[in-house]
Amino acid sequence: MSNAAVPASQASDRTDAPLHVAIIMDGNGRWAAARGLPRAEGHRRGVEALRRVVRAAHELGIHHLTIFSFSSENWSRPATEIGDLFGLLRRFIRNDLATLHRDGVRVRVIGERAGLDADICSLLTEAEELTRNNTRLNLIVAFNYGSRQEIARAAQRLAQEAADGKRDPSSINADALGQYLDAPDIPDPDLIIRTSGEQRLSNFLMWQAAYSELVFVPMHWPDFDKAALESAIAEYARRERRFGGLAAKTGS
Ligand code: FPP
Repeated sequence: MSNAAVPASQASDRTDAPLHVAIIMDGNGRWAAARGLPRAEGHRRGVEALRRVVRAAHELGIHHLTIFSFSSENWSRPATEIGDLFGLLRRFIRNDLATLHRDGVRVRVIGERAGLDADICSLLTEAEELTRNNTRLNLIVAFNYGSRQEIARAAQRLAQEAADGKRDPSSINADALGQYLDAPDIPDPDLIIRTSGEQRLSNFLMWQAAYSELVFVPMHWPDFDKAALESAIAEYARRERRFGGLAAKTGS
């Protein structure tokens, strides 16, 4: 993501249609607590919301949908909850991969694979390989993902190339670093949605979010649906994106 100085989505003149939507699916635990249910049930219902949103995404003209499903910092949660989240990912891939593939969804995974259980790595690779030629929608799953870590990994690769004499340090710029992020071919998100009323990025796509529009919605993730996505897109369409330039209509 985000290798271009001018975000690829700027090339689109359909300002009402975000090509890349990224979602921080927050509030599963609070959704469950409000109903006297275990947190795991909130996460399970979160997967149902995810299915709804993947189905809706293409209908709404979205080309790339990135979801934050497990952060580098989520390791600080109790082991039982981590187990629940990993179990849900396993089940999501085992149960939904065929449907995603049939529907033309290409699955990509960003984040750190090192340290993940071998069976999880195999499932992630299987999902990516089975769907690699699909073009209807890119579903980018951020799993064991942290933006600082992603940027640090990219910086380390550039530094190594310079240390090996394969790169002139003066060639290290934003474009070069962007090429070493986890999905350099995916344009920056036009719209980042966070549910549950929290208003922060929490180490999600911080490099790529430079010119993203941020929409914070009060509902918890398990309640999110196509109508909520349409409403966030309508809010996005009311925004004026200037990318550091001047207003298009007034020139001021
Ligand atoms: C935030 O809610 C959500 C997460 C940490 C994980 C999101 C995961 C899913 C929606 C399901 C798993 C995804 C896949 C692809 C299988 P929270 O637990 O922080 O909620 P809280 O802030 O209310 O406690």
